[in-house]
Amino acid sequence: MSQDVYPVPIEWAEKARVDKAAYDAMVRASLEDADAFWLDQARRLDWITPPTKANESSFAEEDFAIRWFADGELNVSANCLDRHLATRADQVAIIWEPDDPAAEPRRITYAELHAEVCRFANVLTAQGVKKGDRVTVYLPMIPEAAVALLACARIGAVHSVVFGGFSPEALAGRITDCDSRIVITADEGRRGGKTVPLKANVDKAAAHTPCLKSVIVVKATGGAVTMSEGRDIWYHEAAASVPATCDPTPMSAEDPLFLLYTSGSTGKPKGVLHTSGGYLLWAAMTFETVFDYHQGQVYWCAADIGWVTGHSYIVYGPLANGGTSLMYEGVPNWPDASRVWQVVDRHQVEIVYLAPTALRSLMKEGDHLVTATSRKSLKLLGTVGEPINPEAWRWYHDVVGEGRCPIVDTWWQTETGGHMITPLPGAHALKPGSATAPFFGVEPYLLDPEGKRLEGKAEGNLVIARSWPGQMRTVWGDHDRFFQTYFTTYPGYYTTGDGARRDEDGYWWITGRVDDVINVSGHRMGTAEVESALVLHEDVAEAAVVGMPHDVKGQGIYAYVTLNAGVEPSDALRKTLVQWVRQEIGPIATPDAIQFAPGLPKTRSGKIMRRILRKIAEGDTSAAALGDTSTLAEPAVVEDLVANRVG
Ligand code: WTA
Repeated sequence: MSQDVYPVPIEWAEKARVDKAAYDAMVRASLEDADAFWLDQARRLDWITPPTKANESSFAEEDFAIRWFADGELNVSANCLDRHLATRADQVAIIWEPDDPAAEPRRITYAELHAEVCRFANVLTAQGVKKGDRVTVYLPMIPEAAVALLACARIGAVHSVVFGGFSPEALAGRITDCDSRIVITADEGRRGGKTVPLKANVDKAAAHTPCLKSVIVVKATGGAVTMSEGRDIWYHEAAASVPATCDPTPMSAEDPLFLLYTSGSTGKPKGVLHTSGGYLLWAAMTFETVFDYHQGQVYWCAADIGWVTGHSYIVYGPLANGGTSLMYEGVPNWPDASRVWQVVDRHQVEIVYLAPTALRSLMKEGDHLVTATSRKSLKLLGTVGEPINPEAWRWYHDVVGEGRCPIVDTWWQTETGGHMITPLPGAHALKPGSATAPFFGVEPYLLDPEGKRLEGKAEGNLVIARSWPGQMRTVWGDHDRFFQTYFTTYPGYYTTGDGARRDEDGYWWITGRVDDVINVSGHRMGTAEVESALVLHEDVAEAAVVGMPHDVKGQGIYAYVTLNAGVEPSDALRKTLVQWVRQEIGPIATPDAIQFAPGLPKTRSGKIMRRILRKIAEGDTSAAALGDTSTLAEPAVVEDLVANRVG
């Protein structure tokens, strides 16, 4: 463990919205007088009908429900747009930095964004979209992505964003699961100087999605696409003939806002459902407090809108606060590894929010690419997505931030809607690699495998004991799966799937997933998904996938594959299988290593012993690491696996 402590810089202790004393007082209020605290916080939003009730949730099986502010009414897009018009119509809401550094950035004011969202909402309505309908969004990182989300919110449609890097197969599964009639896409996306054939992918997906009736196509690159008569329309053509005003639909706080598919340890990705009031409050409040956001600051979250980070911290959090959110079309290391810092200088970014994997990939290219830029505008640095190793943390702090910018290492999940465990820059001394302390209203515990609470300095399973406003409400179409997945391992608690430890100073350190989810470049991947993709191949009899340590990605994908009888292992087949997985899921699921295994280590009851597979993938093949193999049906299998390890 790192013993370094970075005290709160004096100017932060003096000027930040929340200092240590305020943090302590607010934590106490949020736990001891929770309903009053949350009804008070709810006044951050603009309600049509203000709520009179806060938390009505229960994690117990008898009356299981997650419900907040249920008698309140609001519209999320009105909170992100209309309410700012009186005071900051001409302020920039979104700065768009294009992939190509030579192309012109766009600056979209609140008034312009409002008009465009209204137009998009009217186009959706003209396409027959109504309150409660699911709208699949498969867009690149262009301003229309934010517009599309807010347009859905305006008319009460439920958006379901699918990351543009997912394959047609993965897209089709997500369209079908939520029975989405409509997809919003673009001709192509642009990333790192390459184009992504989004519309062509939608066409391929459409062959497997009978529910899909209409496709709205945004012209992004001008690349050639095939338009299907009666199904596909160009957004710019439809938008030309609709008004730039649209009344926001009043929504109950508990009406759905969006669905976002995420990977779990078993089965297909599940549609995580967030609702309007609690989610928006959580995104808005965490954004303002954790980033200590002040009016006029340029803030940049470099995530993709296809992930929850893009939802909460590119769109909803910043815009609910009337902030200026920078949206970047490209990737951090293109055209070279100084691009991120050039963008910071170009737009005078004060707060930047990046994934550790991006930092590690930039760090290995050398400090000169950073120090060649000014970065004087930077005040605060953030990270999210995976544990940050202290080395990357120090590089971020010392080289990027020149020692003057605090780092907020924010732990949270798609399911939590927003930050859960994180330092506040004016309140907490920092320890490199520690997510530090719970946010207001968050009551975490560490449990041992039997479910006993561990006190003091300890390591265990990270659970949360009470609901918070940003908590997911259900798994789309499968409320029982929601309960079973998160509330049965340790009854009475929300189980995060992460392990954590608390040190002698009470600091929280996230150690990583304790289930069969792996974290590849900050992207969540279910090992079961990769396994299902592999076994779909005609030559594969069985597959087991585990994570392996990876310098840049955090974790890589290591697949053990048993081939069908008569099929010979070869490098060509290995390449074919890698391609196959990319095609079934997308490039983010590219296996880093494939080991052909004549057999997998199984118990006599047929259960694959993943613990052993993980150790071999990690390269730790000592007898102590592999442990007792005597309970295996065929102990000799392990010797073969060790002897033929890849890497
Ligand atoms: C991991 C992303 C350590 C964790 C917002 C979690 C982190 C999963 C951190 C959720 C962090 C996220 N430190 N681990 N600061 N942030 N994680 O749903 O394992 O894509 O369970 O949400 O990412 O990933 P998801």
